[in-house]
Parts: sequence; C-alpha cells; structure tokens
Amino acid sequence: MTGTAITVEGVHKKYRDKPALDGLDLEVARGTVHGVLGPNGAGKTTLVRILSTLLRPDRGRVEVAGHDVVTEAAAVRFRIGLLGQHAALDEQLGGRQNLEMFARLHHLGARRARERADELLLRFGLADTGRKAVGQYSGGMRRRLDLAASLVTDPEVLFLDEPTTGLDPRGRAEVWASVRSLADGGTTVLLTTQYLEEADQLADRISVVDRGRVIADGTADELKARTGGDRIDVVLRDAGQLAAAGALLPAFGGEVSVDADRRLVSAPVADRMAALTGVVRALESAGIEAEDIALRRPTLDEVFLHLTSDDHRAKETA
Ligand SMILES: Nc1ncnc2c1ncn2[C@@H]1O[C@H](COP(=O)(O)OP(=O)(O)OP(=O)(O)O)[C@@H](O)[C@H]1O
Ligand SMILES: [Mg+2]
Repeated sequence: MTGTAITVEGVHKKYRDKPALDGLDLEVARGTVHGVLGPNGAGKTTLVRILSTLLRPDRGRVEVAGHDVVTEAAAVRFRIGLLGQHAALDEQLGGRQNLEMFARLHHLGARRARERADELLLRFGLADTGRKAVGQYSGGMRRRLDLAASLVTDPEVLFLDEPTTGLDPRGRAEVWASVRSLADGGTTVLLTTQYLEEADQLADRISVVDRGRVIADGTADELKARTGGDRIDVVLRDAGQLAAAGALLPAFGGEVSVDADRRLVSAPVADRMAALTGVVRALESAGIEAEDIALRRPTLDEVFLHLTSDDHRAKETA
C-alpha cells in the first residue's frame, strides 16, 4: 500500500445542470489531517459524499484507502468513518445506547458493541453522561458523540464535514482536542470547514475550495506566504484620524483595510523594517498619534479573502 490515503483526480459533479464540483484534484497522505476550506456552496459536502461513496462522480478518479469509490465502494465503506454535516443521533436514546446501536448496525455482536460504546465514551470524555438522553446534551457533547459514532469501526480514513459549525468556542475546543488525538493515533482525517482558524489549528495541509475547484493548497504557512507576506497594523488614539492614516499606508504596500471599531488601519507591506520605520515617521510628520504599531503575518481569513476575491481570480486567469 502506498503513502496516499485519498486521491481525487479531475472530479466533476453536476446537480441537474449546475456544476458543484468542476475538476477538483486532491491528494492526502496517510496519517495526516487535511483541511478543505471553502465558503457556503463551494462543494465541500459534495466532495465528502463522493469520498464516502454516497454519491457517484460524473467524471474523474477517486481512491480512498487504496480502493476506487465507484468500482470498489464496499471495500471503501469498510475502511472509512463519516461525520456528516447534519448528525444522525437518536435524541431520545442515551449516548451509550446510540453508540451501541451504531455498533450493531456495523455488525458487531451485542457484547462487542457494548464494549466498544464504553471505550469510545471514555475516550471522548463522555463516560459520565452515557445514560443521559442525547436531546439534553450540549452542542460540544453532541458533536463529540457524533465523532465517537463515526469511529465505531476504527476507520483508516475519517471524513468530518464541518465538525464544529454552530458550536461555541468551548465546544469547538473540545472537538479540536478529539480530532488531534485521533490524528495522533494515526487515523487519516479529511475535514471540511468554513473556519480558517480551524484549518490552521488542525490541518497539516489545506486545500482552499471555491466553486467546485481547488484554488490554492499547501500548509497554512505556505498559504499565508502566498498572499504577500507581512502586514502592518496601526491602532490610533483618535478614530477621527483613521482616514488620514489610511491615506498614508498605501505608500508602503498594498490595499489598506480600516476597522473603525478597533481604531485600526492595516495593510500588507513589502519590506518589514522599511515599512515599520517609514510608517512611524509618516504618522509623526502628519501629526497622527498611534497607540500601537505591529508587524504580523496575515491571518488565514485575509488569505482566503484574497484568494477568493473576483479581483484575484481575474488576475490569475488573465
Ligand atoms: N442535492 C442537491 N441538488 C441540487 N443542488 C445541490 C444539491 N446539493 C448541493 N447542491 C448545490 O451544489 C453546490 C455545492 O454544494 P455543497 O453542499 O457541496 O457545498 P458546501 O461547500 O458543502 O456548502 P456549505 O458550506 O453550505 O455546507 C451548491 O451550489 C449547492 O446549492
Ligand atoms: Mg456542506
């Protein structure tokens, strides 16, 4: 077996006449966490459904855990776990009963199913709440139980479709910790997300997907580097001077963004030190008082906005 857990080559999928996937390529190394990052409607769920054999591609080649998803769908199903965007738990049943039910559905015997349910409850910190009806779980607990359910068969490859959407920061942190421990145990994970921070935190590599194709991929650092390197942030004392400060910054780099609530102007810069000293001098001579000036790397949000903007797309295809 090779070091590749997932291969997607030139996959197309249309719903009626509308393309959802439009020549998507992806490769995921065994034992890594791969983030698929994209906005609403980008095609993330469609991709996950194809990878997990729930949907056939119109065109292209897809292999998961060494098997073709179309011609060897049963072999693929046997090796994967799926956490869908909309969970499939029984609200009335307790956590333990839900897990036992999933285990029985996957043909584990009654005793093995009970053991497996207990192992998973323990692993996801749910042992104390195993009897409580799932309808009374918090969002984070539910999502952890979903994760546990997708692991009943100890899959080689796990698909997580927006595992933390709708969770509060605490619930999100809980799910992140669970995903990390899975990855540490050697499971290959493909997760989709609209949260750039999530991909940054969890993924070894990231594919940015927009309108059914990968528009950029790499590590979080590589993606950040592709969008013009560092930025300078200037926080002003007086919000009334934001426009004046914003007018000074273009001399040091590119497009300026202004956040009035935080009294912040921000811009990409070509040369860190030259920009820092230049901005300090320019502000001083314009009589603009800064509360804070900092150089930083771009956030993944800024990278994403840059990569998906029509402007950028026009430039790339020009
Ligand atoms: N069953 C369907 N029938 C028709 N069109 C669909 C169907 N499922 C998805 N689509 C369309 O295909 C495109 C991709 O949808 P998909 O659900 O894969 O996006 P997504 O990236 O998962 O979005 P979200 O972040 O909202 O979950 C969208 O334009 C969507 O409207
Ligand atoms: Mg989706």
